[in-house]
Amino acid sequence: MNSAKLLNDQGQPQAVPLSERVHWIGALDPNLRTFDIILKTANGTTYNAYVIRGSSGVAIIDTVKEGFSADFFTRFESVADYSEIRVIVLNHLEPDHTGALPELMRRAPQAQLFISQKAQSMLKGLLKQNELRFTPVLTGDSVSLGDRSLQFLHTPYLHWPDTQCTYAPEEGILFSGDVFGCHFCDSRLFNDRVGDFRFSFEYYYAHIMRPFKEYVLRALELIQPLPLRLIAPTHGPILRDRPEHYIQRYHQLSIPALHSELSAHQKTLLIFYISSYGNTRRMAEAIYQGALQVEDVRVSLYDLEGGEVAPFVDLIEEADGMILGTPTINGDAVKPIWDLLSSLTVVNLKSKLGGVFGSYGWTGEGVRLVEDRLRGLKLRVPIPGLRVKLIPTDDEILECRAFGLELAQELMGIRENKQVNLADLS
Ligand SMILES: Cc1cc2nc3c(=O)[nH]c(=O)nc-3n(C[C@H](O)[C@H](O)[C@H](O)COP(=O)(O)O)c2cc1C
Ligand SMILES: [Fe+2]
Ligand SMILES: [Fe+2]
Repeated sequence: MNSAKLLNDQGQPQAVPLSERVHWIGALDPNLRTFDIILKTANGTTYNAYVIRGSSGVAIIDTVKEGFSADFFTRFESVADYSEIRVIVLNHLEPDHTGALPELMRRAPQAQLFISQKAQSMLKGLLKQNELRFTPVLTGDSVSLGDRSLQFLHTPYLHWPDTQCTYAPEEGILFSGDVFGCHFCDSRLFNDRVGDFRFSFEYYYAHIMRPFKEYVLRALELIQPLPLRLIAPTHGPILRDRPEHYIQRYHQLSIPALHSELSAHQKTLLIFYISSYGNTRRMAEAIYQGALQVEDVRVSLYDLEGGEVAPFVDLIEEADGMILGTPTINGDAVKPIWDLLSSLTVVNLKSKLGGVFGSYGWTGEGVRLVEDRLRGLKLRVPIPGLRVKLIPTDDEILECRAFGLELAQELMGIRENKQVNLADLS
């Protein structure tokens, strides 16, 4: 076999054994440089699909991206016949794994299709076929292939609502879909033989799984008790050497780190601002002083001009609240604020507290635009944005302090009276 392309002596793509009964029948895509717009793929990717043979039939788990179907079918034909296929499992309906499905179902019309409960509504939208027959499954459901079987694990939102994992107990193999996958193309296929793919593994987690940490932890609760010999994901190396190491890494990456340092009743509030003439900065400092007056709120103040976006994203991910300050420049908030906000798509912001403030000269749209964006990102913005025309007066500085105090009280659930007496704050 030509190992670089996984071809046989006749130049045909070959299936690769994971065990006597399980084969990889996927495709290599070494030339891909960008995946789904958002991911860079420095050495391409693989679309992993698998076939498992039981005493009463064959199952296919996932397919490949359209355009790579020929390799998939030829590899399948090297180990089984279409008439033997009883089961097709789709762990995830994204087109990189369902591209070959319509043709596969034409070739194996007798096969029964298994998808997750949440995949049902997506299947029609993706495949544009009305007549598809399928069986929706949840954790606890299984299908027998005679002396081999497949058990389904409901693991939604990793990274689409439809995702599931499939476990083959007699083999000790977890077909994990995109979970534990990465974009790394190496025809040696197995993690103990390929090059150093640590960067790709971490990068994939950071961009694909990170927004769904809570769902990762729930999925790990199902996965951790399973006796595992091997994890077979849909992209990148097959994890046969110490598969538990990758489960542990997912766990480490998904548990909140900061909250273990804080006591149970403490909350964190971050204030970020940017300012050209110091007006928004003066507001920020007063808001900071106001928030500091509330016990058990850990407040931090940052000038965006002095920071890199990535570490700020890490801070925001674990904070309970975030207040942003921006002047209005040419009818808009300024670019560093938008850059920060556009970087937050990798973290879960739902129900965090938000607030916005800023100085302006004549129209002052910046604050309102950022406020709308925070609401769009599902933050809670209980107090309307605070705007000050040009240089804040002493009274306006007091208003800023009140704004900070009220937001901090809101964070602690102790904001009773919306009317703060300014004289108390001077
Ligand atoms: C290039 C430039 C464009 C501006 N465009 C607007 C604008 O469209 N609307 C507005 O309300 N203020 C505008 N301003 C005024 C600023 O918002 C105002 O000076 C504000 O106080 C600056 O706050 P800072 O010192 O925190 O940067 C502009 C200022 C500059 C320098
Ligand atoms: Fe995916
Ligand atoms: Fe994928």
